Amino acid sequence: MFYTKSAKGFKFYEIRAPHKRCRVCGSHLKDYGGKKDQMHPFGALVGDVWTDIHRIRHNTRRDEHPCQLPIHLLERIVLMSTDPGDLVLDPFLGTGTTAIAAKALGRHYIGLEIDPFYKQIAEAKLARVTPSLYRGGYVSYYLGNIQSIRDIDAKALFPPQLTATEKKRKANAVDPAAEFDSTSHPGLKKSRRPARMPSAETHPAFFEPRNPPPAAYTNGCADGQGLCDC
Ligand SMILES: C[S@@+](CC[C@H](N)C(=O)[O-])C[C@H]1O[C@@H](n2cnc3c(N)ncnc32)[C@H](O)[C@@H]1O
Repeated sequence: MFYTKSAKGFKFYEIRAPHKRCRVCGSHLKDYGGKKDQMHPFGALVGDVWTDIHRIRHNTRRDEHPCQLPIHLLERIVLMSTDPGDLVLDPFLGTGTTAIAAKALGRHYIGLEIDPFYKQIAEAKLARVTPSLYRGGYVSYYLGNIQSIRDIDAKALFPPQLTATEKKRKANAVDPAAEFDSTSHPGLKKSRRPARMPSAETHPAFFEPRNPPPAAYTNGCADGQGLCDC
């Protein structure tokens, strides 16, 4: 739970987690209302309830501490509430999860732990921590995959991709400056000018009459278009 007496100096950053995928085939589990091509290139914003972070199940990843927290849970909280270079305090450090998360994410830390055995484990683990980076930005990994990033870092880490419609438009784009004959539309604003003016050479079908009048109607007809009764 986050609580503040005043918004001044309070930090709260939105977090993104990877889109949920099928464990077998790897495809996305949500179709985002048929707008998959508009999905964020990394993942969706996380909500208030986090179901993607689980307790530590394997003894190989567990210290001799009864309530050790998963490192990527603390990393998400640190990312969410601090900037690189900030100071993180955990007055009940246990085997050091908070301090390890802070160090990996480029934050300073202070930890207090009453039990010398837990303190010893924390210090040994802290000595081995390396920065948790991706493309020069701090992110949280779990089992080799990025688990959490801050939304404000997302643009730099995962540049937005073109949607299918934008890709199509880009592929068909012509250079308006090269194509447009400004003498024919001098009054039009540049942004509203058509990129390419159709001509009988470039679009012959466009200039052909759709329903040419039958020859019988036009022969000898006064207006020459078969619109009269003659
Ligand atoms: C819930 S555990 C923290 C576990 C930690 N988050 C982790 O992931 O390892 C709380 C810790 O606070 C320590 N503790 C309890 N009373 C304390 C006190 N007065 N001063 C410092 N540490 C204390 C306990 O020894 C215990 O390791």
